[in-house]
Amino acid sequence: MAIRLGDVAPDFTAETTMGPINFHEWLGDSWGILFSHPADFTPVCTTELGTVASLKEQFDARNVKTIAVSVDGLDSHNKWVPDINEVNKVTMNYPIIADEDRKVALLYDMIHPNASEKATVRSVFIIGSDKKVKLTLTYPASTGRNFDEILRVIDSLQLTSNHSVATPANWQDGDDCIIVPSIKDEEIPAKFPKGHKVVKPYLRTTPQPNK
Ligand code: BEZ
Repeated sequence: MAIRLGDVAPDFTAETTMGPINFHEWLGDSWGILFSHPADFTPVCTTELGTVASLKEQFDARNVKTIAVSVDGLDSHNKWVPDINEVNKVTMNYPIIADEDRKVALLYDMIHPNASEKATVRSVFIIGSDKKVKLTLTYPASTGRNFDEILRVIDSLQLTSNHSVATPANWQDGDDCIIVPSIKDEEIPAKFPKGHKVVKPYLRTTPQPNK
């Protein structure tokens, strides 16, 4: 069964390169990104895992923990990590789940048999501090993901949850935001003291509240 936005992220226990974890306990009060890759010792994956390690400060600033998963074993992961470090000039700083029995892959519907019978596709799940799934994304094996876009989505999600604003097409940090439709016109001055514009009665914008 596919996981849908708003579902509670399925919990599991697993072996990882940083020891055994219970997923929900490991998340604690943080947001989380669970992302799968097809296999260890493959080119695109090597760049992706290193890129995520290099963005640790950015994820920490947003209270987000990252965790990768593939159906390879712990031995294989541990042998691959030095390559990730060398190629990307990083030190791996988050766990990789060893999902040899495909427990996590099946729980999160990460194996798409018409793409590959054996390997996980490139799935991403952004999970809120309430353990609910906020974004799902599926990329093919041959396309590395854009983790700047993942950070941009996290910023947008956190703005919505903390400040009742949405973000327009191609929004970037610092751009004006959209006041969510559930806020009544009369509530706007108190809630958005930086001012607002009414572009259409249903499209009201305000400077980014947390800037
Ligand atoms: C990979 O690096 O995982 C990959 C590269 C090309 C095609 C498929 C997968």
